[in-house]
Amino acid sequence: MKFFLDTANLDELKKGAAWGIVDGVTTNPSLIAKEGRPIVEQVRMICDIVDGDISAEVVATETKEMIREGHELSRIHKNIVVKCPLTRDGIRATKALSGEGIRVNVTLCFSAGQALLAAKAGAYIISPFVGRLDDIGWTGMELIRSITTIYRNYGYKTQVLAASLRSPTHVIDAATAGSHIGTMPFKVLDMLFNHPLTDKGLEQFLKDYNKVFQETPVAG
Ligand code: E4P
Repeated sequence: MKFFLDTANLDELKKGAAWGIVDGVTTNPSLIAKEGRPIVEQVRMICDIVDGDISAEVVATETKEMIREGHELSRIHKNIVVKCPLTRDGIRATKALSGEGIRVNVTLCFSAGQALLAAKAGAYIISPFVGRLDDIGWTGMELIRSITTIYRNYGYKTQVLAASLRSPTHVIDAATAGSHIGTMPFKVLDMLFNHPLTDKGLEQFLKDYNKVFQETPVAG
């Protein structure tokens, strides 16, 4: 499973990238706005930190303008994936941009039917939002399971990116459901490291060792 960070914050991205396990980044207009810099500038800085797919979202709502923004975003860096919303205009823009060889992440997907539309339009990535479905009393993970099954049935190449993941359990469940990618806030990635038995075990190992050897081992 590929791990993407769902943030536009440069400090978080630097910390995550230093661990060597971050495969890409997703941003959205809200995340970009939080950082206070215009999208082109912020995304360019993100591309300098993480070497992987970087999703940058259009803010237009009409096909022609989405395509124009898509061209502008894709020129920022070779790793840019243009994000289009799952609307009629967004799907038309996806079809056009994909036809030109520009990779598109179709976002704001909340049903398997919508995911089918994105795959048929040639999307590189589909982003079903797990947490936001949970928020309205649905089981978001069911959507990941349906989409991975449907895509497998027809051999669609579109990658499933489980988005709006809010906890380590979400990440594990998305991986179990066969999601190709999971995008998560920095806090969730950090939480994946934690287990009380790891801390306890390490403490005991070091205590036992230090009881016998006072010095740290040296090579040779
Ligand atoms: C995905 O690309 C979105 O940016 C993101 O996962 C949305 O998550 P949220 O529902 O926690 O805002």
